[in-house]
Amino acid sequence: MRKKFYKEAIEIALKEKIALTFDDVRLQSDYSEVKLSEVNVESKFSRNINLKIPIISSAMDTVTEYKLAIRLAELGGVGIIHKSLTSEEQAKHVSRGKHHLNAYIEKPICIFSDESVEEVLNRKNKKGYSFNSFPVLNREGKLVGIVTGNDFEFCDDHSIKINKIMTTSPLHFVGKINIEKAYQKMRQTKKKALPVTDKKGKVIGMYVFSDVKRVLNGNKNDYNVDSKGRLIIGAAIGVYDDAFSRLEKLVRENVDVVVIDTAHGDSKPVYETLKKVKNQYPELDVVVGNVSIGESAKRLANAGADGIKVGQGPGSICTTRIVAGIGRPQLTAVYDCAKAIYGSGIPICADGGLRYSGDMVIAIAAGADSLMMGKMLAGTDESPGELIYLKGRTWKGYRGMGSLGAMQKSAGARQRYFQENVENNKLVPEGIEGRINYKGPLEKVIYQYIGGLKAGMGYVGAKNIRELREKGEFDRITAAGVRESHPHDVEITEEAPNYSVD
Ligand code: XMP
Repeated sequence: MRKKFYKEAIEIALKEKIALTFDDVRLQSDYSEVKLSEVNVESKFSRNINLKIPIISSAMDTVTEYKLAIRLAELGGVGIIHKSLTSEEQAKHVSRGKHHLNAYIEKPICIFSDESVEEVLNRKNKKGYSFNSFPVLNREGKLVGIVTGNDFEFCDDHSIKINKIMTTSPLHFVGKINIEKAYQKMRQTKKKALPVTDKKGKVIGMYVFSDVKRVLNGNKNDYNVDSKGRLIIGAAIGVYDDAFSRLEKLVRENVDVVVIDTAHGDSKPVYETLKKVKNQYPELDVVVGNVSIGESAKRLANAGADGIKVGQGPGSICTTRIVAGIGRPQLTAVYDCAKAIYGSGIPICADGGLRYSGDMVIAIAAGADSLMMGKMLAGTDESPGELIYLKGRTWKGYRGMGSLGAMQKSAGARQRYFQENVENNKLVPEGIEGRINYKGPLEKVIYQYIGGLKAGMGYVGAKNIRELREKGEFDRITAAGVRESHPHDVEITEEAPNYSVD
């Protein structure tokens, strides 16, 4: 194990048992030949999960469901689907993410020609299918027709059979066909669906035009994808039964990485769960958290964690430090954990407390491989929740998973704070509920965050994340320094896209 990781400003403070956070330091600039266009921000979330940008979204019910996870993976990061969803719902969100780029549907849902329209519509509602194109089979299982949304919409009598509304002798392809050829075929024939059959007429797959078009038009170079070209999607699990009831379904949907998501990662339930998960699913990467002490990170690394998440109480919505008196300012926490396992190949994820892109640069220089964000990603178009119009501004809701509302709603949130069996009126919250400024599309905010990160790397003379971690040197600053760092003595008249005082 390499030992060389030493940041003097943090070490000096640590000798006096003083823990620092982002505002306590700034990075020194250094000689640089680095061109911003050449800076590489690729990194790792866990042993086998690579990142094109070092950004991970928090497993929170106001941050990461399938929409944000898909968009973030398209931009190069990874979203962690939260666990306030039931295990079935959570697996569905993973599934949508994993299928997003897979325009070829391997097992399309088919219907029978002698079923009534009513039977099919009832089944569609019950199962929650969001699509309207179905290949139609006879009772021998052979393709005999297709129905699409229009067929249902223009049908007034739902008691009639499907064979009365379907298109017979539908366009289809026998054998294998790639996405480009499928696209051409559908364009030429102006058909929205292309079932694929074997020689005997059995349906073996299907392309849907809208998916095919989206995939072919996407900027695939930026996408963070697995070896089969599917977006990388993560999910949070709890401990013991919660973990295993979720894992079975998540693995079936090809989840790439799971996060054992607790407020105290260095605890017996977490170790016991980690051991069992690694035994049952040795191929699956497991990130574990949260911790804030080097010795805890070492214990988790030795217990088989594939990635370690650091942060106890730095989050914008956290009250753990106030309610429980526990936690450690985030700069020292990240540094201590990174130093303790330096050279082990196990990445560190700095979770919580990031407010500006400058904090991202600082967290990486202190030892982080990736950055988990709640507040910095909540409030975007892709995060869950409606827009709120209040006091002349537009907002979105954002709350801690340890807030009263989140814990009352879900056992998954209660378990994060080890209160799964506590009655609603006896809960002890460790977070708050609030609202934040609406930020617009995720792509826009990520562009600014990565722009800031690259700018910081340019000042340090770091071409990549490893060099930033090794070269970044801190100065400790005073309250006067913090004041000087922010805009001062000027009234801001135009809001910058990367700076605001919330
Ligand atoms: P930011 O600062 O990005 O923090 O909004 C997000 C991270 O905070 C953690 N988290 C909580 N911590 N009480 C806590 O003490 C809570 O209610 C809570 N909810 C989330 C979590 O690690 C997240 O990624």
